[in-house]
Amino acid sequence: MTERPGDGRLYVDGTFRTAASGRAAPVREKATGAVIGFYALGGGADVDAAVAAARAAQPGWAALSAPDRAEALRRVAGYLRANYARLVEQSMRETGGVRAKAEDEVGASIRQLDISAVQATENAGDILPPYKAGKLSLSRAVPLGVLGIITPWNYPMNLAMRAVAPGLAFGNTVVLKPAELTPVIGGQVLAEAAAEAGLPPGVFNVVTGDGPDAGAALAAHPGLDLLDFTGSREVGTAIAVAAAADLRPVRLELGGDNAFLVLDDADVELAASCALVASLEFQGQTCISSSRHIVLRAVADRYLEAVTRRVEALRVGDPMERETDLGPLISTGQRDRLHEGIVRPSVDRGASVLTGAVYEGLFYRPTVLSEVTVDMPAFTEEIFGPVIPVTIVDSEDEAVALTNGYPMLMNSVFTTDLMRGLAVAERLQAGEVHVNDAHARHGAENQMPGFTKRQWIGVQRGPLHLPEWTADPAGRR
Ligand code: NAI
Ligand code: MG
Repeated sequence: MTERPGDGRLYVDGTFRTAASGRAAPVREKATGAVIGFYALGGGADVDAAVAAARAAQPGWAALSAPDRAEALRRVAGYLRANYARLVEQSMRETGGVRAKAEDEVGASIRQLDISAVQATENAGDILPPYKAGKLSLSRAVPLGVLGIITPWNYPMNLAMRAVAPGLAFGNTVVLKPAELTPVIGGQVLAEAAAEAGLPPGVFNVVTGDGPDAGAALAAHPGLDLLDFTGSREVGTAIAVAAAADLRPVRLELGGDNAFLVLDDADVELAASCALVASLEFQGQTCISSSRHIVLRAVADRYLEAVTRRVEALRVGDPMERETDLGPLISTGQRDRLHEGIVRPSVDRGASVLTGAVYEGLFYRPTVLSEVTVDMPAFTEEIFGPVIPVTIVDSEDEAVALTNGYPMLMNSVFTTDLMRGLAVAERLQAGEVHVNDAHARHGAENQMPGFTKRQWIGVQRGPLHLPEWTADPAGRR
């Protein structure tokens, strides 16, 4: 039997144990502030133990047959399925997201395990064109080794799983450091799932703890073959700079200042309804949220009216209540970053508030700002909150140029002329562009959001799973 998740233990070498520090800190329900568990305050000693356990377990794990590893992943998925209702509630309380968001998070995690289990048995490398007649060239995929994975608080379970599942599937072992704001749904329940699924000790380890302690120790650990990080640009950049000095491999996903373009022939009501999903889903706290609305002048008044009308009808409150559309922000730090760092200075420089820009505790009214110009933080910064900033331009060329001037992951374009939408999409330097739709709810598990402007190193998911989580024997990555 495993321990109850949320009891302040980390998971190393197949056992639940207290942190070397002997300390734990509370986990809070975001809507109420109630303490709903504890997480171990892990640090360097715990990370060392976890990396050593993962190192020791890796050869044996990789030596299992692919079907045996796939079967182990299916057992993990089975545990998540069997506990689905409890996990969805845990996510709602811990992240402050509404039920649909939590179902998305847990559901995507289960699908990721299923996909990785299949992929593990499908492909083990390539046959290459021979360099000389009569020769046979094989490129065999081998595991990278030990993966360190650091995850954020917004979609804690599936942002972990998108690296954990393919990583394990291809014979790597893992040390996961979940975000301190969501250590249970992002880490401890996964440890419980691994234990219940009978993964061999050391194959999957969870070291909870705070960023500067457990996170920094894992990020700097010389015993990893890859560090995979999802989170802020600030921390990601520091990790990359430090890793470069020792040539340690890292993979980063740092979000973006994503754009939502509304052209002069757009279906304005459709665009406005998609805007709510694109900018306000999970209170706008996602790396793919639309963070700048760039609207052609011809439709700007109608667009602002249609968006504001919809936003005013939204209900903010406890996500456990059925009628809630937007739950609380994740923390006072994120609230202050949003309000004092982005909204207020933008208003001071001349943006006008059509609705919102007020809050009570962590409950922030969804906000529409108009007259946003390119010198305001509402335009230049990743918003990461429930704010729709609207910038008006005079031409399609201006919209494209403005969009391409800033980092982004995923954009949207609205126009009733599909060919025009595709042509504009071609011109946008984003990993992914949606025409007449909001972001990322469609087949996202199999998409490959390739390069973007400076916000992403490496590729995760999609058909490139195999080369991303393995090396060939010559050591190429
Ligand atoms: P953060 O980057 O501090 O946290 C992400 C993860 O990194 C957490 O697990 C944290 O414990 C860890 N971490 C923190 N400091 C570390 C360090 N020195 N070394 C190693 N690991 C460390 O993100 P935070 O402060 O929670 O959010 C700030 C901003 O980051 C947001 O406003 C947003 O712009 C961006 N962000 C982006 C996310 C994404 O999905 N791409 C998710 C969360 C935040
Ligand atoms: Mg931080």
